[in-house]
Amino acid sequence: MIPPQSCRKWVIAKPLGADGIIRAENFAMTEQPLPALAEGQALVRTRLINLHSRTRLKLAKMAVGETDLANYGLAEIVASRDPLLPEGSSVHWQLGWQDWQVISRDEKPIGYAPPTPAVRALNQTHAPMNYVLRPEIAQGWPSDAVMHVFGTSGTTALLGLRRCGPISAGENVLVAAASGSVGSLAAQIAKAKGARVVGLAGGTDRCAWVTDALSIDHCLDYRAPDLAERLRAAFPRGIDLFCDGVGGSLTQTVAPMLNRGGRLFSYGSSASFYGDESARAAGEGLRGAFGITPEIEALCDERAIRIECWIVFDHYYERLSLEDELAAMVRAGSLKAVTDVTRGFENLPSAIMAMYECPHSGKAQVDFEG
Ligand SMILES: NC(=O)c1ccc[n+]([C@@H]2O[C@H](COP(=O)([O-])OP(=O)(O)OC[C@H]3O[C@@H](n4cnc5c(N)ncnc54)[C@H](OP(=O)(O)O)[C@@H]3O)[C@@H](O)[C@H]2O)c1
Repeated sequence: MIPPQSCRKWVIAKPLGADGIIRAENFAMTEQPLPALAEGQALVRTRLINLHSRTRLKLAKMAVGETDLANYGLAEIVASRDPLLPEGSSVHWQLGWQDWQVISRDEKPIGYAPPTPAVRALNQTHAPMNYVLRPEIAQGWPSDAVMHVFGTSGTTALLGLRRCGPISAGENVLVAAASGSVGSLAAQIAKAKGARVVGLAGGTDRCAWVTDALSIDHCLDYRAPDLAERLRAAFPRGIDLFCDGVGGSLTQTVAPMLNRGGRLFSYGSSASFYGDESARAAGEGLRGAFGITPEIEALCDERAIRIECWIVFDHYYERLSLEDELAAMVRAGSLKAVTDVTRGFENLPSAIMAMYECPHSGKAQVDFEG
């Protein structure tokens, strides 16, 4: 293939208004020249990106005229001047809203801390999520499944359950945000490990979808005014493990129901990310941002409840082993990708808008090729 001279690129046309609502007028499609490849660079064609741009848009991380380069995407190397980025291979990389892009292993992570030496040695790059995918993973499944199961969502879910393990058969597991990207995988993995799994989702239809699609035992509507009572009824013997990607008041409701010797896998803050809750006000640092208040810390200490709270990149040296276990589960039929794919590069702004206007299930993605 003859590499193109230019790429199509979505950029910020104007900052979000005071209401914070993302509108079509905030985006503009441009055509921009691609630079000639320098030593150590490669040209990639992006197949698909995962979407998670809301905070970056809201915090105005991109200036007018800039694209968002922080998305994790799957791209194919079409030309290369780096032997460690071979032509024909696929990369998992932080990519922009553009169909072609020049990349380099020297790139620093955007929006995240630099990788640890162990992660750098594994990926041979300077960003924790930039790496060449193994062919058996890249070619084993469609792009959307690769980017859901083997990307940040799947590795976070499995690493969390490993670190909260072993999970004994019949243990009682509650998964918040079971309709979400990480939660939908965590719920399936906990079920595959023999637990009794109850999910949480927003509304009756979403709950019905969760139990059907994920084949878990039960799902409760987190918006129900009597949620605490419903949880107590669903867990008459208490909760052994809580997978919590939500934080805020939900964590405070559930924590007292955790059994002695239980585990709290606290990985996210959807309550503040999507809702109005100021979860960050709860306490200091990452644990505070994810809803672990000093009271919850004390309760967990007193009941010998293990808390697992980290960002997956810090443990990325386990990536290959996580990928292998995830691949085995997918092949065995106990784990499936749950994706919400918008098709067509030209539809990228509507995909970002839709992500915050209406609920989606699993990972929101844009397939550039339609
Ligand atoms: N620690 C890590 O390394 C790591 C890795 C990946 C993600 N994360 C974090 O984990 C969180 C979830 O990420 P994700 O990609 O799984 O998100 P996602 O796919 O966008 O899903 C969000 C989920 O949150 C639920 N939700 C929204 N507001 C809620 C509320 N007020 N109370 C309860 N549930 C609520 C939604 O349920 P309904 O749609 O059914 O209402 C949905 O299932 C984010 O904060 C993300 O930054 C952390």
